[in-house]
Amino acid sequence: MSRPLCATSHPLRIGESLSDLLRLLRGDHRRDSQVDALEHRFAKALGAASAVSAPMARMALDLILGSNALRPGDKILLSPANIPEMRAIVELRGLVPVYADFTPGSIFPDPVRVRDLAASGVRAFLLTIVAGQGGDLAEIRRICDQHGILLILDATQAVGGRFQGRPLHQFAHFSFFSTCEFKWVHGYRGALVLSDSEERLASLRTHARRSHPDFQRTGPLLRKWFSDSLICLVLLSLRKGSWIPLLTRFLRAAVFTQDPLAPPERSGVRVGPFRFLQSDFERMKTAVPQDMRFRLSDFEAIAALRSLRRLGQRITRHQEIARRYDAAFGPMRLLPARPSGFESTFWRYPLLFKDPRAGDRFLEGMRDRGIFVERSGLSLLPEDAGSAPEARSVMARTILLPCHEGLSDADCERVVQSALSILVDPARPELK
Ligand SMILES: Cc1ncc(COP(=O)(O)O)c(C=O)c1O
Repeated sequence: MSRPLCATSHPLRIGESLSDLLRLLRGDHRRDSQVDALEHRFAKALGAASAVSAPMARMALDLILGSNALRPGDKILLSPANIPEMRAIVELRGLVPVYADFTPGSIFPDPVRVRDLAASGVRAFLLTIVAGQGGDLAEIRRICDQHGILLILDATQAVGGRFQGRPLHQFAHFSFFSTCEFKWVHGYRGALVLSDSEERLASLRTHARRSHPDFQRTGPLLRKWFSDSLICLVLLSLRKGSWIPLLTRFLRAAVFTQDPLAPPERSGVRVGPFRFLQSDFERMKTAVPQDMRFRLSDFEAIAALRSLRRLGQRITRHQEIARRYDAAFGPMRLLPARPSGFESTFWRYPLLFKDPRAGDRFLEGMRDRGIFVERSGLSLLPEDAGSAPEARSVMARTILLPCHEGLSDADCERVVQSALSILVDPARPELK
């Protein structure tokens, strides 16, 4: 039987984790030297002058909002797709979210709607690029400049993307990129922020230092290293993609009991024989622990630096796979609209079905064939809101195909042939 194909390649490899540890023990012991190096090299790789790191992307958003004096009651425009923690950050700051609906048939906010909403006293716009598929960023920036709106780009899924030949961060006041597991550049967690202005970035750095504690503890991070390596070993032996999130949480909770970025007094909750992080339970409520260190730790930076070295190679492979998928699925009219001028690096490869049922059946059919396709899982929309109906509909109809450097040409062919066998199945006319 052929091996199951995962939706994502697992970024942590035991040999590499070991070499991270050795580098940390051997290395230059000037505190923060690795974080400085990561900020510098990440900026260089993306064509920027400098970068500021944060312990998580949600924290980067919180710092950006705080350093730009957004006040309770201010309106903020949100593209409706992101992790729910981003809405929690916005609400915890007392900001009022307004949703910018998608252009029909695409996964990007409609500039016409953005223009209408911008005139209603909006102070900031959190724009998310889903699966690396963007839109007309120049038009969005023009609208924001006309109305004095701070444009913040969550470009986590779009590292290396370009619009009209320019890197994406040049279109926004701030852009941030999560470096948590499974992302383009991955440490154990973290984020990097770029800006179109060095002064803006410098004031973000000053604000971060002033508003958050400064400490760096290696002990808990080493425990985290140990748990991640253990997880990795189990995953490699199982090779079961659908188990990854479950096992990750379970094993990590069992092995280490403290949030490695928080001061020593934060402790976990005991359930049976295991301890769970308080933050796991409170994640949705508090979204970001206020006592986190203002930037990454050296240990996390070492892992992110290692993954950064492979970035170019990863991007090339994602784009090769996307070209193969384009040839197979383009003629079937299953692709979301892609605006001209946007060069995607294809974080994932989205297919857009005509209704959610068709998407469900496709998902089941692919999983029956051992291929773990996914739904996007990103939604900021409150259940009760009637706003952004197009985004709601598009997100319910979008299925993401695996697109990562762990796929060989033969794997890629298997994805295509399995998908086609479902899509052209005469017993399932509703999928066409
Ligand atoms: C669009 C987007 N933003 C942010 C994140 C992660 O944010 P954080 O670093 O706060 O966990 C993810 C990852 O799941 C994401 O897909």
